[in-house]
Amino acid sequence: MTRSDAPPRFAVRRATTADAGAIVALIELNVPSGELLPRSADFVQLHADHFLVAEREGRVIGCVHLDEYAPSLAEVRSLAVVPEAQGLGAGAGLVDALERLARVRGYATVFAVSNSGEFFRRLGYEERHIPELDRERSSVSRYKGVHAKDLGPASHRR
Ligand SMILES: CC(C)(COP(=O)(O)OP(=O)(O)OC[C@H]1O[C@@H](n2cnc3c(N)ncnc32)[C@H](O)[C@@H]1OP(=O)(O)O)[C@@H](O)C(=O)NCCC(=O)NCCS
Repeated sequence: MTRSDAPPRFAVRRATTADAGAIVALIELNVPSGELLPRSADFVQLHADHFLVAEREGRVIGCVHLDEYAPSLAEVRSLAVVPEAQGLGAGAGLVDALERLARVRGYATVFAVSNSGEFFRRLGYEERHIPELDRERSSVSRYKGVHAKDLGPASHRR
């Protein structure tokens, strides 16, 4: 069997509890920079149904967490792609899959609090003031940008 020289494609799928170790390791890579908050393996296992992973050749190369913030509002959290796989579309693929899951689960809007504003703007997000954030996270949103996207009704998609 010959191997292609083309870089292997990644696939995005729902996480399982077995992915917890890989997800925690990915998140940990981005804790020192202040980009992500640490998560324990217990936390990820408990919330595995709300995580998605990008996988390439059987290895988890990216993850994201769909975190409910309010009944119609969800947050894009713990988004990370391993440095050697960045720039291949995995981050965008994870966010796209997260939006589809969010739509199916009935969220009207998703938002992200991050320093990667340009990344989110390319995906159709706009800088926005989220009043719900003022209550608990004013200190966070003061230092990072808040970008949001309205999803539209789930009936527009299968
Ligand atoms: C942000 C991150 C997830 C992007 O993942 P990625 O797989 O490299 O992104 P993609 O390859 O899907 O890039 C999608 C587009 O965004 C652009 N992009 C990616 N990262 C960017 C960044 N930091 N700033 C500006 N643009 C960026 C890409 O060039 C690409 O543009 P194109 O569609 O015009 O080609 C990744 O850089 C990462 O893990 N960063 C560290 C953790 C982090 O900052 N997480 C966000 C907190 S919510």
